[in-house]
Amino acid sequence: MSNPNMGFLPPLGWNSWNTFTWDINEELIRQVADVFVEQGYKDAGYEYIVIDDCWSLRERDEQGRLVPDPAKFPSGMKALADYIHSKGLKFGMYSCAGTHTCAGYPGSFEHEFQDAKQFAEWEVDYLKYDYCFKPRSMEGELLYRRMGLALKNCGRDILFSACNWGQDEVHGWIRSAGAHMYRSTGDIQDNWESIKRLAISQLDKAAYTGNYCHNDMDMLVVGMHGGSNNDFIGTVGGCTDVQYKTHFSLWSMMGSPLMIGCDIRKANDTIKDILQNKDILAINQDREARGVYVLHPEPHWFHGQECYMLVKVLADGDLAIGFFNLSDSKRELPLMFWDLGLSIGSGKKLSLYDCWEHKDLGVFTERFAPTVDAHDCLVVRGKLV
Ligand code: GLA
Repeated sequence: MSNPNMGFLPPLGWNSWNTFTWDINEELIRQVADVFVEQGYKDAGYEYIVIDDCWSLRERDEQGRLVPDPAKFPSGMKALADYIHSKGLKFGMYSCAGTHTCAGYPGSFEHEFQDAKQFAEWEVDYLKYDYCFKPRSMEGELLYRRMGLALKNCGRDILFSACNWGQDEVHGWIRSAGAHMYRSTGDIQDNWESIKRLAISQLDKAAYTGNYCHNDMDMLVVGMHGGSNNDFIGTVGGCTDVQYKTHFSLWSMMGSPLMIGCDIRKANDTIKDILQNKDILAINQDREARGVYVLHPEPHWFHGQECYMLVKVLADGDLAIGFFNLSDSKRELPLMFWDLGLSIGSGKKLSLYDCWEHKDLGVFTERFAPTVDAHDCLVVRGKLV
């Protein structure tokens, strides 16, 4: 019997890659599990703790099995899974559709069923499946179907997190291959330009998400502050807290899985308040998991793609509305209620609640036109009254 909740909503969790890349070990993973419980992440809904690339030895063993690096994981993966499960959390691992992972460790190509069985034996709950070093002449679609089938038949519920970076028009076929989430973007970096680029790249794909197959815009950089050990991801600077807030709001509203990428052992209160904002998380975790629609404020020629509103229809009839200003100057972003389907003749108004300030803004008729600072956003929950 499979668990009907698995992948129903966008998965919430933590992944080792953005901050630690190759420098991972069982002690770190256990500490992250402890922090999940002790510092409110578990109560906020975060559940999956995922080890990314670089966990294995460079070669398979004589039986063709993947071998955890004993220097990094001396107790083995089953013991680590037990520890994570003892905290009421779930355990994720990583492999690749090609012969090698992106960092050059063994991939699952032609070992799909064997590896799925191995992950099940270790009591893994989630598999991220990357796209490096796959034979060029083979369709990615077939390789994701293979692992999708192997996981569905491995004897354990394992959530399938596909990661082909949005290539090959993935949104058109990935749901049918069995994945519960799919990366739609190239790798994120801990800087504002990257956040902005990824967010804008998914505006025309906003509808391709939903229950059991979520558009994964990549792991969060919230709270990294330049803390990666990897030059590409970003070893200096990072973003401002306002930019992290906007990043979190965008990913949440667009229905992306929210996989924390910072060192949560060191996160300060501002970062915790962003990651654990219950009003924003409730939008991301709305049970109908609808994709947003996009509204471009007038005048269009002025705002271009840099300023827009995202609107998500929620299960209880409310509307989540995000006003995003990705430009470098302060902007007024007028929302006309007729664009929401609220006809003037209906006599309906909108009562708006600010999901970052956690307070009511009042009741509005026909339009609402907030001024939003550069790189900032306003996210409201609107109730028809
Ligand atoms: C790719 C993925 C990243 C990460 C690395 C690991 O680049 O997109 O998220 O998993 O591989 O090598």
